[in-house]
Amino acid sequence: MRILYVVGTRPNFVKTAPVIGALRERLPAGRHAIVHTGQHYDRLMSAVFLEQLGVPAPDHMLEVGSGSHAEMTARTMERLEPVLLEERPDLVVVPGDVNSTLAAVLTAVKLEIPVAHIESGLRSFDLTMPEEVNRIVADRFSELLFLHSEEAVENLRAEGIADERMQMVGNTMIDTLVALEDRFRAEQTASKLGVEPGAYALVTLHRPALVDGPLLPETVAQLAALAREMPVVFPVHPRTRKMMESVEAEHPGLLLSEPLGYLEFLSLLADAGAVLTDSGGIQEETTYLGIPCFTLRANTERPVTVRAGTNTLLGLDPAAIAGIPAALAARSGAEKPTPPPLWDGHAAERIADVIVSRQ
Ligand code: UD1
Repeated sequence: MRILYVVGTRPNFVKTAPVIGALRERLPAGRHAIVHTGQHYDRLMSAVFLEQLGVPAPDHMLEVGSGSHAEMTARTMERLEPVLLEERPDLVVVPGDVNSTLAAVLTAVKLEIPVAHIESGLRSFDLTMPEEVNRIVADRFSELLFLHSEEAVENLRAEGIADERMQMVGNTMIDTLVALEDRFRAEQTASKLGVEPGAYALVTLHRPALVDGPLLPETVAQLAALAREMPVVFPVHPRTRKMMESVEAEHPGLLLSEPLGYLEFLSLLADAGAVLTDSGGIQEETTYLGIPCFTLRANTERPVTVRAGTNTLLGLDPAAIAGIPAALAARSGAEKPTPPPLWDGHAAERIADVIVSRQ
């Protein structure tokens, strides 16, 4: 069997690594071609991740880089098509909801190559999010849909997708976390940064709705106020860094850093007293680890994390950051919630079993 995996961004690597591993193990004589679109390209956003996750060097680098949505999608499609023609895969495997995902699905489906979509069925019901458009298209045109939470079933049925295409397998991002837990716990990033485990807030912000407009300076001011109550550690995404260059100097109370590798970041996440984020994946990782997460967004495509009791939606409202210390005090001593079903470190094996059984 010839399988081709398309990845392009930091979270894609984390979601796909265990699937590549499980399929290579089950199909050692098969072709496993990895295509890196280059949507993320800085060493700290890309190569470091592939190395730490043990992903083999990509077979094809498309080097599409950043740009408008149309530019990124079009460039990826143009450069991926000849690769698909050369590799002639029996199946294309894509994760998530980024522009690389969208481009890969469209290119493959037009060549009549079946697609398997990892992390299918998530919906924010907000079509102004580019990822929501990508999710809908990816699910509509993928033959095999791998789901990680119950609401995905209803979301897909509501779009007329037949149950036969759906496979409830669990969460491959959690597979990676489980597989690397000993290694990331040994990192002790908190101590290296001089903050006490359990006592600091970890912040990540990168979504255009928050960082590309007027909300960013207000958010940074709120973070500086929070830093007077507890240390605030903030590894800054390159998109956010560009936008906050002028703001940063005014708020020396924050512990800012470059983007971190997977192991360094997961170490900080696992030891955090609280996490503030607009990321999707971090809502899931905190749920698995039982860390209080505050999500600075108007909605989430991952309501399972709210139901689990770890995630609180603050809205797209920087002023709500001020409520975090009181919210933490109110939940102190509460029992650690259990992770959602099938978030157990074995999702990729289930995916591989399904794919192998269809040969
Ligand atoms: C993508 C995804 C988004 C995901 C995010 C994770 C889409 C529609 N969006 O956004 O869902 O949460 O990645 O980070 O696909 N930059 C660098 N070096 C890099 C990458 C980016 O400097 O390696 C800078 C560039 O200025 C770039 C900007 O950051 O324009 C955008 O970064 P980001 O928002 O991460 O990338 P997208 O591909 O737009």
